[in-house]
Amino acid sequence: MARCAIDIMTEIPGPKSREVMERAGRVVARPVSVMAPVVAAKAHGSLVTDVDGNTYIDLSGGVGVVNVGHNNDAVVDAIKDQAGRFLHTDYSVIPYDSYVSLAEELVELAPGDGPKKACFFNSGAESVENAVKIARAASGRGGMIAFEGAFHGRTLMALTLTSKPRPYKEGLGPFAPEVYRVPYAYCYRCPLGLEYPVCGVRCAEALDRAFTSMVAPSDTAAVIIEPVQGEGGFVVPPPEFLPRIAEICRKHGVFLIVDEIQTGFCRTGRVFACQHYGIEPDLLCLAKSLAAGMPLSAVVGRADVMDAPADGRIGGTYVGNPLACAAALEVVKIIRGNDLSSRAREIGARITRRLKGMQENITIIGDVRSLGAMVGVELVRDRETKEPASAETAKVIAKAMKRGVIIPRCGIYSNVLRFLNPLTITDAELDEALDVLEVCLTEVNALN
Ligand SMILES: Cc1ncc(COP(=O)(O)O)c(C=O)c1O
Repeated sequence: MARCAIDIMTEIPGPKSREVMERAGRVVARPVSVMAPVVAAKAHGSLVTDVDGNTYIDLSGGVGVVNVGHNNDAVVDAIKDQAGRFLHTDYSVIPYDSYVSLAEELVELAPGDGPKKACFFNSGAESVENAVKIARAASGRGGMIAFEGAFHGRTLMALTLTSKPRPYKEGLGPFAPEVYRVPYAYCYRCPLGLEYPVCGVRCAEALDRAFTSMVAPSDTAAVIIEPVQGEGGFVVPPPEFLPRIAEICRKHGVFLIVDEIQTGFCRTGRVFACQHYGIEPDLLCLAKSLAAGMPLSAVVGRADVMDAPADGRIGGTYVGNPLACAAALEVVKIIRGNDLSSRAREIGARITRRLKGMQENITIIGDVRSLGAMVGVELVRDRETKEPASAETAKVIAKAMKRGVIIPRCGIYSNVLRFLNPLTITDAELDEALDVLEVCLTEVNALN
């Protein structure tokens, strides 16, 4: 196996990492759990080096945040430059150009020909909270419809819209009222027990039915959907699903909010995943790779909808922080100047080809699915019953970490390995990481 990027010099985790994590155990609240207890010292591109000097290929990309690579040089320079001028004024007190420039860029990048506007927040969950507020203000209605398997964040409204009880929701209710839920097009585990394409994507009709059986359109502010479900298992719906959902929303006069927090900024091979499906959301939620590691999120949408809330209803002290806006403007420049989307498609094809090859012999690989570089591998104990291989997935992740590859998981059964590597990863780094994963999957498969 060719070795080039990974450099493991100690047992994993190393002594310095263990010492920090022991201190964390005493003072950091337990629910803030850690996937890879190797303490970061520095990162660049697709590589992270820990405090013990071990270097890993990071396929998590800070959970989809660094599509342009860890510590992208242009982004770091822009942050340094901004830090030398001012750190904070609060845009709603003393405004600054970068906030406006970024809004100009995002309304141009977002799908849809009509006039659009943008506003900024700190996290993905805040973007979702505010998209709901905006949709409610614009429609004068309260109801929200979300999907099974959805993940929209951890604040009260976002968590209510999120579907997975463990680890996110259990014991944290009561949740916000007026949220209804319909099935998503999870073809590997079809909610209707049907096969695509003969099913005719009948699952989408559950949304149409919901307007009769659950909540009237006249009481519904919006439907919120991820174009590819992230935490829900990298679930890629068939091409007809999103257009049909958009059509049903239009028919009932209900806004469509598309949550592109994980799928956005070239991850799926287009700047935004909804562009694959030719749909134009009323509101778009953005975060994660928007600012390459700086905390920044946005809602971008139809100008008439965005302008609906009364003055002062939307905002926050730190929202649209100048350092974060400077970083995001560099990200936009990188996206415009380099064809990150076509690189995402190449990366996705390379990963998928290897994984499909592995699937011939490694029987725990139940499904390999992708849109661009958003690739998920669903592990099962038995391909017939599709019993989720949750413990086995955890074993693969632990083994990969010890061999120098950081890869996260997702899925309603926590049995999906997911690739969120920087889109700047080299072919050699990718192949090296895939070699490691093949060894780990083969070992865990042998135990099954
Ligand atoms: C689709 C989606 N929406 C919302 C969120 C919440 O973002 P944040 O963790 O920044 O609040 C996430 C985070 O993973 C996400 O993937």
